[in-house]
Amino acid sequence: MKFTFYGHSSFSIETDGKKLLFDPFISANEQAKHIDIDSIEADYILVSHGHADHIADVVYIAERTGATVISNFEVVTWLKNQGVKNAHPMNFGPANFPFGKLHFLPAWHSSGLPDGSYGGNPGGFLLQTAEHNFYYSGDTCLMMDMQLIPRYAKLDFAILPVGGNFTMDAADAVIAAEFIQCNKVIGVHFDTFGYIVIDHSKAKEIFSAAGKELILPAIGEIIML
Ligand code: NI
Ligand code: MN
Repeated sequence: MKFTFYGHSSFSIETDGKKLLFDPFISANEQAKHIDIDSIEADYILVSHGHADHIADVVYIAERTGATVISNFEVVTWLKNQGVKNAHPMNFGPANFPFGKLHFLPAWHSSGLPDGSYGGNPGGFLLQTAEHNFYYSGDTCLMMDMQLIPRYAKLDFAILPVGGNFTMDAADAVIAAEFIQCNKVIGVHFDTFGYIVIDHSKAKEIFSAAGKELILPAIGEIIML
C-alpha cells in the first residue's frame, strides 16, 4: 500500500490498483507549491468535512480525473452544485466499495462550507481493504467513540491530526492511538498555519514513550505501508 503526502491533511492511498485521494488542499497551501496538482491521479476522493483546508481542490481534481467523491450528504450535494459529476453521499455507517469496506464515522469538529452553506456533520474514515485496515480520523478532538474502532477492525496504521488548536495534538493523539489499538500513526494537520506549528521531536517522543511510532511526513513524501 502506497501513501503519498500532499501537505496539511491531503494524502493519497494506492491499494490494489485503486487510487484514493483524501481531503485535497494543495493549490492554496503555500507549503505545497512544489506539488503538481495535475499529476495527482484519483479514482475516489474522500472528503472528511466541508472546511476549505480539506475541500479546496476537490472540484478541480474531480473534474480532471472523473473520480467519485465520497463524503457526507450535505458536502456531496454542495459539490454537485459546484459541478462534481460523480459522487457517493453517505452519513455515518458502513458501505462497500470496489476498494473495500468503508465506515464513515463521527468526528468532533464542525463542517461549514467555504460559502457559509451548511456542511452536515464532520467525519472520519475506517477502511478495510484486501491489503490493510486503516483509520483516518479527519479533524477531531480526542473522543471516546474511537474505542469502538477495534471492534470493527485490527488496524495496520492510522492517520491522525497532531497540530492541536483545531484538532488533537500529539499528546491527545497518542491516547487516540491507545483507543484504536494502533502502534503506527502518520501525523497530519500540523505546521500549515501559525496556530498548528509543532515541535517534531517532542511529538515523536510522546509516541515513543508509549511504545508507538509517530511518522511526520514531508510534503511529497511517499511511504510504503
Ligand atoms: Ni476543519
Ligand atoms: Mn482542518
